[in-house]
Amino acid sequence: MHIHLVCAARPNFMKIAPLYRALKKEVWAKPFIVHTGQHYDIDMSDAFFRDLGLPEPNINLGVGSGSHAEQTAWVMMAFEPVCIQEKPDWVIVVGDVNSTMACALVASKLGIKVAHVEAGLRSFDKSMPEEINRIVTDSISDLLFTPSEDGDANLLREGIPKEKIKRVGNIMIDTLAANLEKARQLKPDSRFGVKENNYVFVTLHRPSNVDDMHSLSVIMDHLAKLAKKIPVIFAMHPRTKKNLQQFGIHNTINGSGLIITSPLGYHETIGLVDKARFVLTDSGGLQEETTFLGIPCLTLRPNTERPITITNGTNKLTSLEILEQDVNDLLNGRNKKGAIPELWDGHTAERIITTFKDMNEQRGS
Ligand code: UD1
Repeated sequence: MHIHLVCAARPNFMKIAPLYRALKKEVWAKPFIVHTGQHYDIDMSDAFFRDLGLPEPNINLGVGSGSHAEQTAWVMMAFEPVCIQEKPDWVIVVGDVNSTMACALVASKLGIKVAHVEAGLRSFDKSMPEEINRIVTDSISDLLFTPSEDGDANLLREGIPKEKIKRVGNIMIDTLAANLEKARQLKPDSRFGVKENNYVFVTLHRPSNVDDMHSLSVIMDHLAKLAKKIPVIFAMHPRTKKNLQQFGIHNTINGSGLIITSPLGYHETIGLVDKARFVLTDSGGLQEETTFLGIPCLTLRPNTERPITITNGTNKLTSLEILEQDVNDLLNGRNKKGAIPELWDGHTAERIITTFKDMNEQRGS
């Protein structure tokens, strides 16, 4: 069975790594890694391949950055000839980035089966580009692997036949569980001169937070204020850095005591999250990773496509209006205890691969 594993942007690499490893062990499977090149900086891409022990991709489409239409179109134009030449039996796409939707569209139109890992998540907010990518990808996928019950419910409501939906758990947690020991050994807190349980780890990159000059400058004011109470490590996404420079906000943060670093590798990030007092983020993956690690998380967004991290986990939505109060609650130890959701157990890739193995056996018999 020829299986393409599509990856594109930073959060995708953690999702394909356990699938690649599991498929590599199977004699019936031929995995082929397609990197669309949506993320291309060393610290946004290569560092993750290195940390996760992934081989060089079989092909890199090298699309890079552009508007939504440009990026989506470039991925489609570059992936179509690859599919025609390689003739995969299945294309597995993960997550919700532009390349996820673009590759799903290409494969589906060529009559190649598409499987979506992390299907069914919905923020019900179409102003997020990812929500559109999720809805389109799920609507054309042949197999939909969901991380939690809410994913199944969303898909059924949208009319997806239940035979196509397989609840397998959270693939990010496979990678987290497999790498946690290594992340802990790295002791990244000492590299930044901070002490366990006595710093805040921050990542922010959503257009709704960082593309608007006013909201980005209010965020930076909050962080500068917070950094006077407790060390703050802000691992900065290139989109955020570019906007800070463009808006001229970088001057106001000089000397504030904030520790701003370029994007960190996987082990370093997980090592820092694991020992943080709390995390402030707008990332999808960090909402899940903090829930698994039992670390309080404030998500600076009006909604989340991962509600289970709130109902079961340690996550809380926040806004610029209530951020100070939320931060003070956590600094004063008023945080909720979370639980790890069902099937977030490090064995999601095995469950996914078993589905393909069974299909392969049925095909052969
Ligand atoms: C993309 C995903 C988002 C995901 C995020 C993780 C979409 C619509 N968005 O957002 O869902 O949460 O990745 O990081 O697919 N840039 C670099 N170097 C890189 C990559 C990007 O400098 O390696 C800069 C460029 O200026 C680029 C900007 O970041 O224009 C945005 O990159 P893009 O891939 O369009 O979206 P992200 O914000 O990274």
